Amino acid sequence: MLLVENITKIYTKGQIKANNDISFSLETGQMVWISGATGSGKTTLLNILAAIDDTNLGNVIWDDKNITMMNDTEKADFRLHKMGLVFQALELIKAQDAFNNVALPLRFAQVPEAQVKTAVEEIFNYLEIEFLIKKFPQEMSGGQQQRVALARSLVHKPHFILGDEISSALDSHTAHFIYEKIRKYIKDTSSLALLISHDPTIGDYVDKRFNMIDGILEEIK
Ligand SMILES: Nc1ncnc2c1ncn2[C@@H]1O[C@H](COP(=O)(O)OP(=O)(O)O)[C@@H](O)[C@H]1O
Ligand SMILES: [Mg+2]
Repeated sequence: MLLVENITKIYTKGQIKANNDISFSLETGQMVWISGATGSGKTTLLNILAAIDDTNLGNVIWDDKNITMMNDTEKADFRLHKMGLVFQALELIKAQDAFNNVALPLRFAQVPEAQVKTAVEEIFNYLEIEFLIKKFPQEMSGGQQQRVALARSLVHKPHFILGDEISSALDSHTAHFIYEKIRKYIKDTSSLALLISHDPTIGDYVDKRFNMIDGILEEIK
C-alpha cells in the first residue's frame, strides 16, 4: 500500500509551492492515473514518491517503509529493489542487444548471472515479446524499443511502478500495449502503479484518477 501524508514542497527559488498539503492512500493492486496541466506539480510529487527528491513536510510510506526517514543509501537501495520507473526518455544502450539492455538493472544489483538469464527470459515471455530478445536498438522500431524498455522497468519485479508522461512519445498502438501490460502486471503481482499522463485513453485501464491543480491533488470520481 501507499500512504501519503501532508506532502508539501516549496522550491526556494521563486517561492513556488509546487505541492500543497497532499494526502491520499492507495491499496495494492491499483493502477492510478495522475493528470493535470503543465507546471501543476505532477513531476514534483512523483520525484518525492520515488525518493528522488525530498519533501519539505509530510511522509511517504510504501508498505511499512517511511522513505522520508531514509538516508541516501537506503533510498538508493529501495529504488533499486522495489521501484520500477517508466520514463519518457526510455533510452536503450545502442551497443547492446535487447537481452543485455534488460539485464542491466539486475547486473547493477549484482544478481548472479544464472538468475539474470532466467529473469530476463521470463519478462520477455510475460510481455510476449520473445522475438525481440536478440535484437539491437537500430534493428527495432520505436514502438518495439518502448516494449523492451518496459521489460527493463519490470525485470526486477518491482512492487511500485511510477511513470512520468509515459505516453507522450508513444504511438497509440504501443500506448495501449504498455497500459495493458502494466495493468496485467499490477493485478498479477498485487503491486501498485502511479502514472502521469496527458493521454485520456489511459482512463480505460486505471482504477483511480487524480488531477493536480496548482499543487493540490484531488481525486476524480
Ligand atoms: N527544481 C526546481 N526549482 C524551482 N522550481 C521548480 C523546480 N522544479 C519544478 N519547479 C516549479 O514547480 C512547479 C511544478 O513543476 P512540475 O512538478 O515539474 O510540474 P508538472 O510535472 O505538473 O509539469 C512549476 O511552477 C515549476 O516551474
Ligand atoms: Mg512534469
